[in-house]
Amino acid sequence: MKHRLEIETMGKMKVAGPQYANGEITISGSKNSALPILAATILTDEKVILHNIPNLADVNTMIEILENTGKKVMWENSTLVIEKGEEKINSILPYGPVRKMRASFNVLGPLTIRNGYAKVALPGGCSIGVRPVNFHLEGLKKLGIESKIEHGYTNSKFTENNHQKKIHISLPFPSVGATEHLITTAVMLKDTETILTNCAQEPEIVDLCNFLISMGARIEGQGSSNIKIYGTDRLYGTEYTIIPDRIEAGTYAILGAILGGKVTLNNVIEDHLFSLLDIFEKLGIHYEFKNNTLIVSGISKMELTPVDVETSTFPGFPTDLQPQLMVLLSLIPGRSSITENVFKTRFNHVDELNRMGAKIFVESNTAIITGVTKLSGAPLEATDLRASAALLIAALAAEGETVINNVDHIFRGYEKLFDKLEKLNLSVEYFE
Ligand code: EPZ
Repeated sequence: MKHRLEIETMGKMKVAGPQYANGEITISGSKNSALPILAATILTDEKVILHNIPNLADVNTMIEILENTGKKVMWENSTLVIEKGEEKINSILPYGPVRKMRASFNVLGPLTIRNGYAKVALPGGCSIGVRPVNFHLEGLKKLGIESKIEHGYTNSKFTENNHQKKIHISLPFPSVGATEHLITTAVMLKDTETILTNCAQEPEIVDLCNFLISMGARIEGQGSSNIKIYGTDRLYGTEYTIIPDRIEAGTYAILGAILGGKVTLNNVIEDHLFSLLDIFEKLGIHYEFKNNTLIVSGISKMELTPVDVETSTFPGFPTDLQPQLMVLLSLIPGRSSITENVFKTRFNHVDELNRMGAKIFVESNTAIITGVTKLSGAPLEATDLRASAALLIAALAAEGETVINNVDHIFRGYEKLFDKLEKLNLSVEYFE
């Protein structure tokens, strides 16, 4: 089997609905944990073994970046073995892979600490909204890393005497990426104590910190809004298993609520999904949680109650489940709303759902949803990863045929998608 998923041409998916979901699947490892943890492997030359890594387009892009730094990376099923290559670590990275994926920007700090300098492309915008990196660069500056943006690249250099022994960085917003980037850099500042305040508390941050601690780092407060990092000059090889993907789990749970029958999801951590399960309770959706298994049973939408939801940083409701939840709320009688507080313009999926007969209108960063009894199949355009997942769920629920164009975004975040749909008794046709 070809292990690496390269996306050249954008494929389409044809779906005949409505379909009924029934079955059992196992949730894969977390994409948003794998990416920062892979970037952090730059901090050691020793062997790192990572288990439960999802085989996704984004993970393979990060592997390509690590190979460009000189690392040797090998897959063994869902395990990655990362070792030092022949050459000295290279910290000048090509434009292509970094441009493709924002999360790769987080190699800048670790590379600059390792080599004293680095050159990494500035990540571009993306369809979910403007995504600057000012918090990253301002924080790195406090850690002694000066960056200059030239010709689309960030050129950075570390000046030893630039940094103090005690550093305090307060993030203007609890950014996931900036928190991860600054932690992964501060761990290698010898004899330096860095305090990050107002930082992100997502489970992926905790997973990254636990990984770094398994390499010998000293970190306190992960999972809270204040994290303390005691820098060192050396980190060691390790063997580590990453957490399951709470966004993949949430996506299939919402699919189960809309299309179920009975959908059983194994390898799910309940604490990571509390905000979604709270909403399920408010809506009146039946679910059961035992031994890391979530069972969701669909019921007639007529019996469900409309709700008002706000996205926010963890432990609030995740923006990465917002498009999927909008599909569910569009089928519940009455008026619901979703206010998007993390990416205020993340509504590309709204016009597509309205094309299927949904009644959604957006006012500033709030979508007002008036429930309809059914959606109808239509030709659709997918714009990003989570929007693709939402449109796929809508197509499976809709009456008639839907064709989703530009659907390959979905492979960036959903592993073994066709196997899992089949196990849930669902069928889609994919063609290039
Ligand atoms: C991470 O992106 C996730 N990606 C995103 O998931 C997720 O939507 C996001 O966090 C929020 O939960 C990965 O983990 C790889 P942020 P990130 O920095 O780190 C603003 C998916 O579908 N901001 O927390 O890029 C920013 O514009 C992806 O899996 C600045 O203004 O998100 C946004 O409004 C999509 N300046 C807010 O903060 C900065 O320097 C949150 O962004 C950094 C961020």
